[in-house]
Amino acid sequence: MSDVGESRHTRDLDLFTLIREDYERHGRDWTRPGFRAMVVYRFGVCRMRIRTRLLRAPLSFLYRRLFIRVRNRYGIEIPFTAQLGRRVTLEHSHAIVIHGNSVIGNDCYIRQGCTLGNKSLDAPFDAPSLGDRVNVGTGAKLLGKVIVGDDATIGANSVVVKDVPSGAVAMGVPARIVRKADLRPSAGNGVDAGSRSAQVLRPAEFTVDSSRPRAPGAPRRPSRLSSD
Ligand SMILES: CC(C)(COP(=O)(O)OP(=O)(O)OC[C@H]1O[C@@H](n2cnc3c(N)ncnc32)[C@H](O)[C@@H]1OP(=O)(O)O)[C@@H](O)C(=O)NCCC(=O)NCCS
Repeated sequence: MSDVGESRHTRDLDLFTLIREDYERHGRDWTRPGFRAMVVYRFGVCRMRIRTRLLRAPLSFLYRRLFIRVRNRYGIEIPFTAQLGRRVTLEHSHAIVIHGNSVIGNDCYIRQGCTLGNKSLDAPFDAPSLGDRVNVGTGAKLLGKVIVGDDATIGANSVVVKDVPSGAVAMGVPARIVRKADLRPSAGNGVDAGSRSAQVLRPAEFTVDSSRPRAPGAPRRPSRLSSD
């Protein structure tokens, strides 16, 4: 069976609905590598809904060919075991590597040069979990079992090795967590621009459920970062 790799956001939707949403999200441009990679990923996931292995075999053969093509031509690697939500946008192409145990929520942006992967070969199954509407800047690396909350932003070229609270901005190497509001004094929040940087959030302020999505090798179960 079955729903291996299937995000809880997508398991009730058919392949064409998911692809149509991805198409819209990629500017209705079927030539974009990100869109093509998403189509192949969706196909890889949805083919697993066919329970009989024999019936699935020709689709699996086709999927593997397409996966290799996308990886080698566009430099985008998203195994079907990763759990991607709806309307995930892959802006641009190349050096996008998503670990097979990663979880990505709805409406997230992943850009060129981004890696969501394990931190060490000693823990090869550890992978990041992103909530909804997470915006990952170009070149960012998210390593290990980090949890990134809804609406968080990861700065370009950041290396994230710790959880990022909902709505926060994480930036730098290693990424430090800064309140989003503190970065936008013009939004009328009364924050002095001079004191805006590096206000680190305490764990108690996190709004994500920090329980892990699953143990390595364990059956997949829904992420609890947020509800639909
Ligand atoms: C993180 C980010 C969202 C912050 O944007 P912002 O809210 O406008 O923040 P500012 O530009 O005002 O910068 C605020 C502070 O963070 C620093 N900063 C900004 N981006 C940073 C980054 N990626 N890494 C490290 N520090 C960064 C600034 O130098 C500044 O520091 P200071 O307060 O000490 O002067 C933005 O810089 C970013 O990285 N966006 C990614 C966009 C992207 O990937 N574009 C590619 C499109 S193809």
